[in-house]
Amino acid sequence: KSGIEWNPSRERLIVVSNRLPFVLKRDDLTGKLIRKSSAGGLVTAVAPVVVDCGGRWVGWTGDCSLTVDDEIPEASEEDTTPTAGLLKHQVVPVYLNQQQFDSYYNGCCNGTLWPLFHSMSDRAVYSSEYWQDYIQVNQLFADKTLEAIEFSKMDGPDIVPLIWIHDYHLTLMPSILRQALNEKNSNALLGFFLHIPFPPWDIFRLLPWDDEILLGLLGCDMIGFHIEDYCINFLDCCHRRLGCRIDRKNLLVEYGNRIVKIAALPIGIPFDRFQRMAEEAPRLVKEKRQKIILGVDRLDYTKGLVHRLKAFERFLEKHPEHIEEVIFIQIAVPSRTDVKEYQELKEEMDQVIGRINGRFSTANWSPIRYIYGCVSQAELAAYYRDAFIAMVTPLRDGMNLVAKEFVACQIEEPGVLILSPFAGAGETMQEALLINPYKIDDVAELICSALEMSRDEREVRMKNLRRREKVNNVDAWAQAFLKAIRSTTSMNPESDSK
Ligand code: ADP
Ligand code: F6P
Repeated sequence: KSGIEWNPSRERLIVVSNRLPFVLKRDDLTGKLIRKSSAGGLVTAVAPVVVDCGGRWVGWTGDCSLTVDDEIPEASEEDTTPTAGLLKHQVVPVYLNQQQFDSYYNGCCNGTLWPLFHSMSDRAVYSSEYWQDYIQVNQLFADKTLEAIEFSKMDGPDIVPLIWIHDYHLTLMPSILRQALNEKNSNALLGFFLHIPFPPWDIFRLLPWDDEILLGLLGCDMIGFHIEDYCINFLDCCHRRLGCRIDRKNLLVEYGNRIVKIAALPIGIPFDRFQRMAEEAPRLVKEKRQKIILGVDRLDYTKGLVHRLKAFERFLEKHPEHIEEVIFIQIAVPSRTDVKEYQELKEEMDQVIGRINGRFSTANWSPIRYIYGCVSQAELAAYYRDAFIAMVTPLRDGMNLVAKEFVACQIEEPGVLILSPFAGAGETMQEALLINPYKIDDVAELICSALEMSRDEREVRMKNLRRREKVNNVDAWAQAFLKAIRSTTSMNPESDSK
């Protein structure tokens, strides 16, 4: 249970995201569709909220061969993920064909917006063909969401649909939806949360469609970002690109006759759930004498995986006294495997890991254990619990939930979190060892300091980290988002009272 305050006689929650919280796969033997859990911060955070509020989830099925004739299955009995409670009538599938998938998802979302929003503009490609498909798919999602809104209104005239749109895939959708609702004289509250950074004006303006994205988002009543820096960047872009009046102190943007509320709402994790899993999980790594250094990531170039491995290599070079004493476990879930940059990263990882293992392995020991695949949350909890050091060193990251999951699972000998200040998490998790991931030598030395840190110091740091994440958990985040969006009805009364 999420403990979310919810008024079922008045409100209906409709979550919209590019993906449903699971992907559908056809079982080889039976030919039936089954749900497979999908990894990512968004799913981990939002699924429990939708389940608890009895909400609906509009999203893509994850398989281009599926059509409206394919029935969404219920979760299997073995499914213990947070999405298992999402019943099939709560799921509103969006079907994308292969061309849309290539152009909208691989092209515009992950070839253009993802690198640009992570301030890696040299990796961004700009294609008007991708952009046209991005517009078309946003329209498709808006149409599906409108159907879900109409459906929810059948429960009574006073029902307020609360539409919660997620992430960079759907930035145009709010204004498309706003216009359609206005034409129908229909009410709904529209909120958006961006799970990745919002870049500074100097980077954002490189996008040939910068104004369209801003105008798309301004269809909302409220827009949430992880941290204040991203809010300020957004306000700045609205002011400089669209000439909007902005209020930096109260985080408001005025556009046309409407006021849009902006809020910094750092996402949290289901802390108690991770702690419980850590309490129950069996021990996975038998060699207790070895200290585990752990990395858990989607295989993404923003996560700084190669830099991290190189820092570990430097550490072994400079500190041979630690050889055979540590083991680096890197768990990397395949991600966006059709995109060239991700394929190249996979090859580079294989090469670098091969080189380091070849260089330092002894008869009884290899420095790196590389798990390339999706691991269950229960298994992850065991790794988090048993790790002596977690290395969360992205080059850029909206928040990073792995840092928080590690902390929640640290219920035995306290370990050390090495964290990049370029992740949103670096803003609040100040008791971590913060380090610029580009400084390979310094990261190598920091690994050494972490291994040698006194138990007292580790305990104090971990205690404070845990205390904060327990309180600022995912329920608190969802609660804060809902509270903030409800408060906007006094600013733009037409949203709630048509
Ligand atoms: P992002 O949203 O960019 O994927 P986050 O760190 O915020 O990054 O969230 C990643 C989520 O995916 C976490 O909940 C983490 O547990 C999960 N995850 C990452 N790697 C794996 C993996 N190899 N197997 C299973 N889950 C994973
Ligand atoms: O958190 C950023 C994000 O893009 C989420 O929207 C998404 O769930 C996750 O990363 C995984 O990415 P994808 O859905 O492209 O596999």
